[in-house]
Amino acid sequence: MDKFIIDGPTKLNGEVDISGSKNAALPILTACLGKPGIYILKNVPNLRDTRTMLKLLEIIGCKINHQPKAIIIDSNNCNNPEAPYELVRKMRASVLVLGPLLARFGSAVVSLPGGCAIGTRPVEMHLDALSKMGVTFDIQNGYISANCSRLIGCEISFPKTTVTGTENILMASTLAEGKTVITNAAREPEVVDLANFLNEMGAEITGHGTDVIEVKGVKSLRGVSYSALPDRIETGTFLVAAAITGGEITIKNTISNHVAIIIEKLRQSGAIIDSTDSSITLNMQGKRPKAVNIETGAYPLFPTDMQAQLTALNTIASGTSIIKENIFENRFMHIQEMSRMGAEIKLEQNCAIISGKDELIGASVMATDLRASASLILAGLVAKGTTEIERIYHIDRGYDCIEEKLQQLGADIHRMPM
Ligand code: EPU
Repeated sequence: MDKFIIDGPTKLNGEVDISGSKNAALPILTACLGKPGIYILKNVPNLRDTRTMLKLLEIIGCKINHQPKAIIIDSNNCNNPEAPYELVRKMRASVLVLGPLLARFGSAVVSLPGGCAIGTRPVEMHLDALSKMGVTFDIQNGYISANCSRLIGCEISFPKTTVTGTENILMASTLAEGKTVITNAAREPEVVDLANFLNEMGAEITGHGTDVIEVKGVKSLRGVSYSALPDRIETGTFLVAAAITGGEITIKNTISNHVAIIIEKLRQSGAIIDSTDSSITLNMQGKRPKAVNIETGAYPLFPTDMQAQLTALNTIASGTSIIKENIFENRFMHIQEMSRMGAEIKLEQNCAIISGKDELIGASVMATDLRASASLILAGLVAKGTTEIERIYHIDRGYDCIEEKLQQLGADIHRMPM
């Protein structure tokens, strides 16, 4: 297993380009299964998760052709509506094949995802919603076997906002008979991107970006060319990298609106931030950040996927902060690792209380999940001395060329193959 070696502290300076969004690309890839066709997808980031999803699409029967700037997916000859445990256990987002496979084949066999480092993460809301559309489920030997003679449009009210749940229902209802109304729908930009992609294919979706989405079922869809939106969590992670190191960076190829709440929090911590629609410049003027309180929530509230990174910032900020995690019950695994670097953090239920220290000291730490690994890199950039981060396969799930991008900004970070 590779590890990262980081020598710090370093002040980051320069420009960085943001890659396509992992969490937009994953559902868009599965949407190509819904109707036979040829799909040309651009701005798909090269990540472990997107590679896993492409492998899954191949198992189902898609032909994948990698071009320098696009991935061409031919879903004409799919004949195996099954997602095996070997792939689902690597990536829970595999459950996103359920909606499109049911729409196309009236059946699907998908392994149950099992446990996850950041929380229990059940999928019962996906299944309950699909049952309302006429799907029956049989769970045996760790697999969900789903069947329906046809999908029927209906009213679905999610008891709790769910991003991939909303996406699964969007893909299923697009080809269902009649109208589906989803209330308490997720408003995340990735959900909107999927709806835009489906509309390009010929779907009739309105209200995406609000918490009520209406979908008029259509009979057919067509293959299209589409570019996934830029990754807002990668954008936020680089903004924090500049803020934590007192640096100045310009982020390009992003959508500044999608990170409005992150910009607001970083301004509170003392950053000077200027933005256009597609670029953001953050200047920390060499200053130590001020502590900022964070409470995670569904979009447009503060994203749980940026909680660990803000925790890292607060460990060296002046003052005390409280970070409240409202989405996942176990998303504080980075705290013990940061404590090994000298951070002072107390955990009380779903709150981390952080007393900012003047400095962190490099140590050997272990990545436990994707965003936790990002936060340990941030801590390593600002820590004095050498930080070694093990199990970085987690970071490769969701950050395209992270070490190259950080090196370009002046970081002393190297991957050591094991
Ligand atoms: N939940 C249930 N039952 C369900 C579904 C969800 O109780 O059937 C709960 C979850 O346990 C959680 C909450 O509802 O407490 C919200 O979970 P959600 O379903 O929205 O999460 P998700 O769709 O599984 C996506 C992202 C995550 C991101 C969350 C929250 C993708 C592929 N994944 O997960 O991304 O943290 O939304 O914004 O879009 C990441 O990229 O690091 C990541 C974990």
